[in-house]
Parts: sequence; structure tokens; C-alpha cells
Amino acid sequence: MTARTIAPATGRLGVLLPGLGAVASTVIAGVLQARQSGSTPIGSLSQMAHIRLGERVEDRNPLIKDFVPLATLDDLVFGAWDPISPNALEAARTAGVLEERDIAAISADLEGVVAMDAVFDKDWVSRLEGTRVKTGATKLDLAQALMDDIERFRVDNECDRLVMVWCASTEAYRDVTEVHQTVEAFEAGLAANDPMISPSQIYAYAAIMSGVPYANGAPNLSCDLPCMTELAERNGVPIGGKDFKTGQTLMKTILAPGLKARMLGLNGWFSTNILGNRDGEVLDNPENFRSKEVSKLGVLDTILQPDAYPELYSDISHVVRINYYPPRGDNKEGWDNIDIFGWMGYPMQIKIDFLCRDSILAAPLVLDLALFFDLAARAGENGVQEWLSFYFKAPMTARPDLLPEHDIFIQQLKLKNTLREWMGEEPVTHSEA
Ligand SMILES: NC(=O)c1ccc[n+]([C@@H]2O[C@H](COP(=O)([O-])OP(=O)(O)OC[C@H]3O[C@@H](n4cnc5c(N)ncnc54)[C@H](O)[C@@H]3O)[C@@H](O)[C@H]2O)c1
Repeated sequence: MTARTIAPATGRLGVLLPGLGAVASTVIAGVLQARQSGSTPIGSLSQMAHIRLGERVEDRNPLIKDFVPLATLDDLVFGAWDPISPNALEAARTAGVLEERDIAAISADLEGVVAMDAVFDKDWVSRLEGTRVKTGATKLDLAQALMDDIERFRVDNECDRLVMVWCASTEAYRDVTEVHQTVEAFEAGLAANDPMISPSQIYAYAAIMSGVPYANGAPNLSCDLPCMTELAERNGVPIGGKDFKTGQTLMKTILAPGLKARMLGLNGWFSTNILGNRDGEVLDNPENFRSKEVSKLGVLDTILQPDAYPELYSDISHVVRINYYPPRGDNKEGWDNIDIFGWMGYPMQIKIDFLCRDSILAAPLVLDLALFFDLAARAGENGVQEWLSFYFKAPMTARPDLLPEHDIFIQQLKLKNTLREWMGEEPVTHSEA
């Protein structure tokens, strides 16, 4: 197998984060701490996972970061936009994810990540009052202002390359409309202030126009639109999303493939959560929750394939709830009640009570996405990066007629085999001696 030509990861990589809230401040803090004190970036596949190469007997098992040319943690420089948080220090303190002792050790560096004024519109996130907000006569002017920010950041920070990962609040659920069908229609819509164009879509457009890979960590429509795929392919920019796969959905996509592997049936999966952070407050609004609900509900059908296994999975009751409960802050509690059945149809139940920390689970995903999207750009990739489905609750597909892959183990295999192929190694099928 011939290796791809991949440009080296020389110089600095700018990581641009729309949304300087709990997730963004936690990923920045973790990278700063790892750089300063050498702490282990737990949860990051790019930093910690090994990859087997060749046949088992060859005993080649390097770390991924030693196998593929990734930017290192020392190469990263962070930028952000936020309508509320002034800098990463205040964002971390407001979020309440990290202990003060962890924050204090890196407080000056955190304070140095100053938020740029956001493209923000209350119509899309009604629970927030933004004060540090860009103004412009049209949405095209706002897109241009973001492109100017991107260019300024690139020059001021002497970045060789940039990536953008959307870490801002979930926007209200709206459908794809005519304005999203082509690049031409979208640009006309920007100039005409089309109400169906959201802030996250303006960021995605500005990133792709600037040649910056774009990943969407929230469930709202942003780059999963025909116009964005067209623009990304035309400009040679990798894109992907959406919605970081953490917490309850992570557990679901670990467990459901196992149940199916054993041909155990499923009657119902009831999932409920309490969380009390700003994300929870935004999701307390039904329009914003709708974006999350759609993204969370999709996973079981594609994993379990009810059409292929009607006796086991054709009649599943799948319910997802999120309740805003301030005392919990970022420390979410998610309960799952899973009604399964086995031999001769006998019913059984599985209960999960996951006391998780949302941003602690999401932060390493942001790091990996930034590093892998940068790698994809240097490897000459453009358009939707399906091989990074591993990170998303509702993975985008390269073509609209393809179903997304939700099974975390298949996603992991796909990710690793992509890296093997790019580096000129045979894919591992686990069928050899
Ligand atoms: N933490 C997780 O496990 C997880 C998992 C999947 C998805 N997500 C998504 O990631 C996003 C971030 O989560 P969080 O917990 O950090 O939320 P958060 O509320 O702490 O932070 C979001 C930040 O985005 C800012 N913001 C809102 N609109 C903006 C805009 N137009 N431009 C720039 N900034 C804007 C807000 O002011 C806020 O500071 C949310 O959409 C959430 O649904 C999080």
C-alpha cells in the first residue's frame, strides 16, 4: 500500500473555538496543564492510544501520535469568540468544572485567551443575553468580520495553520431550507439577511472561506448543509460533525452493539438526565432541546437495524429527556432504563446511573478533533470526514443517501484503518493468523 503525501505538522496550529464556555475552557485548561506539568491527557485517543500495525506476530504497536504526523500540544494556540465570557479564566470559573487549585496554576495563560466579539443572535439561543456581540448591516458583513478575525489571529499568533471547533451553545432547531441548498443561494441569503441563516452557519461559512477545517460539536445545523459541503469540497476544506459523543449517548453506543452482537432483543430504552450548567439552561428551552433530541434519538436505529432484525428491534420505545437542575452544575446524572428480552422471550432490565462530568468527557474530544482535522487538511482531504464519526453523536455522511455509522467499535476501526491507509500500512481486519 502506498502512503499518502501528508504535509508535515511544522509551526503553530491555531485552534479557534466559537463558544468560550464549559467545554472550551476545560479543553484549554487541560492542554495548558499538560504542557506545564506534563499531566496525562486522559481520554484523548490521539495522545494515548496505540495502533497495531501489520500482523499480530510483528508486534508493532506504536502510539498514534508517534505514527502519524500530528501537531503536538506545544504547537497549539487557542482563540475564541463568546458573547458573554471575556476570557478563558472567567469562563473556567463560571463553568465550575475545575477545582480552583487546577485553575490557579495556569490562571495567567487562561486569562490570555481573550474572547473576540461573537456573531450572536438571541433568536437562536433565547436563554442567553449576549453583550459582546458584533454588529453589521447584513449577515455577509458579519461573515466578513469573522474572516477578518481569523486572518488577524493567524498573523498575530504566527500560526501556520488553523482549525475551528464549534463549542458554543446549541441553537434552536430549524429545518434545512432553500437558502441552504447551494453556495450561491447561501451567499445571496447572507446579503439579504435571510432569517434561516444561524450564527453557527455564519462561522462555518467564514471558516471554510478562510480555508480553515470546521467541526461542529453541537447538535444544531451548521456545516451539515448542502451549501457547506459544496463550499468545503470546492475550497478543499475538511468539515464534520455533529454533537460531541459523551455521556449517555457514549454509553448507548457502547452497549447497544453488544446487545445486538448477542442477538438480545430490545423493547425500550428510557434515558433521562439532570444537569445544571449553562448548556442545561439553554437546552431547557424546547426549541433548543429539539436539536439535541433529534441528534440523540438517531443512534439506536442505525446500530440495531430493525429492518434486518424485526423480531428483536422493530418495536422499540426510545425516549430521551433532559431536565435543567441548577444544583448539579456541570456534574450531570444520567439514568437509563433498558428493557431487553432473551431466550424464549423472557424480559430483563438493565439500569445505568452515570454520574458523569460533561466537560471532562468532551474536552479530549475537542483536542482530538482539532489535531485530526488539521491532519486531514494536510493529507489533502476535503468535505465530510466520515472517519471521525467516532467523536460525534450524529455523524455526518459523505453523501445524503448513506446512513451514518453509530457503533463506537466500528467507528474506532474506521478511524484507525484510515490512519493506517494514509501511512501506507495494510488495514487491520482481525481475520489473519
Ligand atoms: N459537554 C458535553 O458533554 C457536550 C456533549 C455534546 C455536545 N455539547 C455541546 O457543546 C456546546 C458547549 O457546551 P458547554 O457545556 O461548554 O456550554 P456552555 O453553555 O458552558 O458554553 C457555551 C458558550 O457558547 C457561548 N455562545 C452562545 N452563542 C454563541 C455564539 N453565537 N458565538 C459564540 N459563542 C456563543 C455562550 O455564551 C457560552 O459561553 C453546547 O452546544 C453543547 O450542547 C456538549
